[in-house]
Amino acid sequence: MKQADLIWMNGELIPWEDAKVHVLTHGLHYGTGVFEGVRCYDTQLGPAVFRHQDHIERLFRSAHLYYMPVPFERETIRQATLELVARNGLRACYIRPIVYRGYGQMGLNPLEAPIEVSIAAWEWGAYLGEAGKRDGIRAKVSSWRRISPDSLIPASKASGQYLNSVLAKIESQKSGYEEAILLDEHGNVCEGTGENIYIVRDGEILTPPTNASILDGISRRSVIRIARDLGYRVIERNLARSELYLADEVFLTGTAAELTPVREIDDHPIGAGEPGPVTRHVQQVFDDALHGRDERYHAWLDPVPVGASAPS
Ligand SMILES: Cc1ncc(COP(=O)(O)O)c(C=O)c1O
Repeated sequence: MKQADLIWMNGELIPWEDAKVHVLTHGLHYGTGVFEGVRCYDTQLGPAVFRHQDHIERLFRSAHLYYMPVPFERETIRQATLELVARNGLRACYIRPIVYRGYGQMGLNPLEAPIEVSIAAWEWGAYLGEAGKRDGIRAKVSSWRRISPDSLIPASKASGQYLNSVLAKIESQKSGYEEAILLDEHGNVCEGTGENIYIVRDGEILTPPTNASILDGISRRSVIRIARDLGYRVIERNLARSELYLADEVFLTGTAAELTPVREIDDHPIGAGEPGPVTRHVQQVFDDALHGRDERYHAWLDPVPVGASAPS
């Protein structure tokens, strides 16, 4: 990964290489952490964090679901993030806030373990590659099922829950695909390992609803809004596996992957085997929104006050 200079840890900006934790950190053993993936873009308004407040809200919701009171105000986290990006001299970057149970208590009752907060930022290109964004990727339906609400909390972005995504990702990579698509225990389509999923059929966009064991993606909310603004009908309903293979178009969205088309699933070409017109249209406007080129979506941008605290 591409290092930056500083990381924010529990209220202080410290050198990147000093941002360390004890080996008996609770979250390292039991996955007791919650995190966010956020992006800052080099926009026409200067560097700006996309839907910053929404990410902070989701971080606090994830923490609440795991009985973790965050020891900082939302506004402190927001200001810390803006300062971190500015002080690292970054204009476009990925931002990773994490709230986790720290060192001091072992065993499965975490309630006495301290709650620590860190924020890191670094330059990170499109997660599924620029070629993937342009030409589409090949995906495989995973043999692993998406975590069930019977056992965990799909709506929470919690560290331990990502073992499910890690298994699916490894399986897809070892089989020669770029991403995995997870179904739930009834066979309904959920999402990618770190992306929400959509199909296009007869000009309409369909995507699993938020109660379908998915993460309530912030890119998902943005893309649904954009697609509706563009006049597309967007339907949130359960999708069967076969609907993936029969779709005219399929695409994924996530903060890391942005909007990435899927051109093949389980060796079935999707539509013409290349990104289709609806995907392209929504992708273009979403990209404009991310980069501040579309005034309709400027309210989604939280500008970084550069200059005020340039790198020393
Ligand atoms: C499992 C999962 N689903 C969906 C998403 C997409 O969410 P967002 O658009 O908020 O990044 C992510 C990424 O955060 C994810 O990890």
